[in-house]
Amino acid sequence: MLKDLIKANRSCRGYDRSRRVTKKELTEMVDCARLSAAGINLQVLKYYITNDREEAAKLNELTKLGAMLPELKLPFKGEEPPAYILICQDLDISDKEDHFLMDVGIAAQSITLAATEMGLAACMIGNYSQVKVHEAMGLAPNLRVKLIIAVGKSAETAKIVRVPASGLTAYYRNDKGEHCVPKRSLKDVLITK
Ligand SMILES: Cc1cc2nc3c(=O)[nH]c(=O)nc-3n(C[C@H](O)[C@H](O)[C@H](O)COP(=O)(O)O)c2cc1C
Repeated sequence: MLKDLIKANRSCRGYDRSRRVTKKELTEMVDCARLSAAGINLQVLKYYITNDREEAAKLNELTKLGAMLPELKLPFKGEEPPAYILICQDLDISDKEDHFLMDVGIAAQSITLAATEMGLAACMIGNYSQVKVHEAMGLAPNLRVKLIIAVGKSAETAKIVRVPASGLTAYYRNDKGEHCVPKRSLKDVLITK
């Protein structure tokens, strides 16, 4: 059921590196993004996939996971993401950089759902320097990295919890080390008149 997949699709910041992610798996995730909705069907997005150890190590250096839990310094050593998908905009198709951000979100959701269905996990990453990542991956000048997705087998336990009385929606780790993600209730998100 789609809702179960959505519930299982939690952002993951710690990976079991003994499970390699293949290029074939990453390509299949991109295929799901390719088939998704796109503004005026222009399809400005292109995808760079990598499971190369050196490139993954570089991307791990250039991205920030779990900025709301700085004391944990995520990912823990040895649990770095083994693979990444970079969602890029092809400026040769459109150079309107802000017009297609919704396409990026839709593509990212398709990718993370596909990863979850494969028994893998993912984390969308917006916390990075576009220029540094572009340079480190040696991408062509017409490409702009709009969002990075880490992919791998989860080494974490994550669960959805109620928003606490404080109203804070920040994710946290409980005393068992489980990653807790507060989601507003259905009642609180439905607009009534
Ligand atoms: C556009 C976008 C950018 C994000 N960037 C980061 C990021 O840079 N680092 C990170 O650890 N998580 C990032 N996240 C993951 C969010 O923190 C996560 O979605 C949120 O905590 C809710 O958890 P959930 O995905 O398990 O529902 C991003 C999510 C989105 C949608």
